[in-house]
Amino acid sequence: MSTLITNVGELVTNAPPDRDPGLGPGGFAALTGAALVIEDGRVAWTGPAAQAPAADEAVDCGGCAVLPGFVDSHAHLVFAGERSAEFAARMAGTPYQAGGIRGTVAATRAAPDGVLRENLARLAREMLAQGTTTLECKSGYGLTVPDEARAVALAAEVTPEVTFLGAHVVPPGYEGDRAGYLDLVCGPMLSACAPQARWVDVFCERGAFDADEAAAVLAAGRAAGLLPRVHANQLGPGPGVQVAVAAGAAAADHCTYLSDADVDALASSGAPGSGTVATLLPGVEFSTRQPYPDARRLLAAGVTVALATDCNPGSCFTSSMPLCVALAVREMRMTTQEAVAAATAGGARALRRTDVGHLGVGARADLMLLDGPSHTYLAYRPGVPLVRAVWRAGQREF
Ligand code: NIG
Ligand code: FE
Repeated sequence: MSTLITNVGELVTNAPPDRDPGLGPGGFAALTGAALVIEDGRVAWTGPAAQAPAADEAVDCGGCAVLPGFVDSHAHLVFAGERSAEFAARMAGTPYQAGGIRGTVAATRAAPDGVLRENLARLAREMLAQGTTTLECKSGYGLTVPDEARAVALAAEVTPEVTFLGAHVVPPGYEGDRAGYLDLVCGPMLSACAPQARWVDVFCERGAFDADEAAAVLAAGRAAGLLPRVHANQLGPGPGVQVAVAAGAAAADHCTYLSDADVDALASSGAPGSGTVATLLPGVEFSTRQPYPDARRLLAAGVTVALATDCNPGSCFTSSMPLCVALAVREMRMTTQEAVAAATAGGARALRRTDVGHLGVGARADLMLLDGPSHTYLAYRPGVPLVRAVWRAGQREF
């Protein structure tokens, strides 16, 4: 079965990962007046619409833009309850505090599986309807062995990109025994979660885990076959980025407060595909009223940048990659091309995936049709539901 997607005003393909020197403006590539053929769930052909080969069925895009599906490489979707009162208090002047996580932990532990599964499915559907075709999902609101094992098992029902985040905060009951909690995380909790997870993450921040603790969690995760990623430098300057780079993490996420040494460490962390990506989460700064990360400084240094939502009930409850693109463009001065590349190819780099985030021949046929002639519309028409159709692995899913 083959499908011709034709009369595409702008077809954003991005550079194929093996030919991409980095993800500055160079990561973005697009064709105009183009077409694309899907066969067996993969991109089989792209080129000028007039030269397109025949296919079993055709979709006429009427001059609208087609983009690779968004790759949202950072989300916390397994939880119960909500924290809108905390958000309202923040907007009235109360600063964000990592301690709010403990409220969600209590609600999550108390929720039956069905409630967690339904909430997760609803958020994954929301994401799909906004163009996200690959999502990462973390545990981290259970913080006991059975509650974390349940979280990773539920996450694995919606994505292969499952992250064990037992080291989110020290939970109630362990305040006087941090070492005891870390032993639990690196021992029985990790053993229970590793079989269903691909990644290990740690919140390296004042009020959560320090550099030595974070390094120990990542090392234990690695020994159990998981790949590291880190919540780093979100609430203030700190060691998170250095810990991430030293551990060979695929990504350091947040990167809101960086020193020159942090930027250098990211820039020299390795070639695209093996280095540490800076994943920026502008929805968090929007929702916590913090300063936005300095994307221009990172891009100027040659750091690979990704954009993701961080969808969670505390610091940022949006599932919208289009919103993140618009914020990156308006508030972080990324060009529209840079922002779209970061939200697609950048996310793929942050998950060490070469099959998604671009529409080169052979890529998984994950694509979205926009209600607008170019990718620019994502930032030019902020807040407007522009995603008209979504294909995942060649199947129309929205
Ligand atoms: O990425 N920073 C740590 N974790 C989440 C916030 C979780 C919460 O507040 O519930 C984040 O912002
Ligand atoms: Fe997060």
